[in-house]
Amino acid sequence: MSLKMALTKGRLEKTTADLLESMGYGLDNVRNKGRALVLPDTLKDISYVLVKSNDCITYVEHGVADLGVVGKDTLMEGSSDYYEMLDLKVGKCCFIVASLPEARLFERKDHIRIGTKYPNVARAYFAARDMDVEIIKIDGSVELSPLLGLVDGIVDIMETGSTLKANGLVVLDKVADISARVIVNKASWRLKREEILQVLSDLRKAVENNA
Ligand code: PRP
Repeated sequence: MSLKMALTKGRLEKTTADLLESMGYGLDNVRNKGRALVLPDTLKDISYVLVKSNDCITYVEHGVADLGVVGKDTLMEGSSDYYEMLDLKVGKCCFIVASLPEARLFERKDHIRIGTKYPNVARAYFAARDMDVEIIKIDGSVELSPLLGLVDGIVDIMETGSTLKANGLVVLDKVADISARVIVNKASWRLKREEILQVLSDLRKAVENNA
């Protein structure tokens, strides 16, 4: 049975394609995708779809993709009706809490506002510390929100740290490590286990070779 695999567009796209190619899979259609949306592997019985990270979860949860590669950040923020099977150990970054140096976020007792693209992650982090904060959802360039005085701090992704540094923000705490993960649809895991196990085994070897 053929497999459909959802790959996350953007930052993870090239690393995931590199990893699959190192396993002997044929990624030519993904590399030269043009406007095509369903991209058959040129060597294996798999077709790929390139989608936004949240959509990767949606497609896998609904079973129109049997498996997907998506960042742990998106998994932590979203729903979880799938099996998380493998850490690909690429796309490594982390969730951090950051602010301007003078914000003294953890010492304050007054109303604190937090800007983030990840309200569920931020809410859970502060709830675990018994801190009652107001979460303000920001869709991009989250680092701007404390600079303009909209929020007192942010929960965001840090990869190199250069965006924080360039904007005078400091890391106050690390929330969680992030990397790309493989998720599998629950019904596909029953019906196409052999095919999925083969891909997982190929991926596992590629991850080991990368280490
Ligand atoms: C992410 C994140 C930070 C930046 C961190 O944003 O939200 O802004 O990358 O990377 P760094 O530590 O290497 O500087 P992204 O570039 O995905 O764009 P966005 O802010 O528009 O969502």
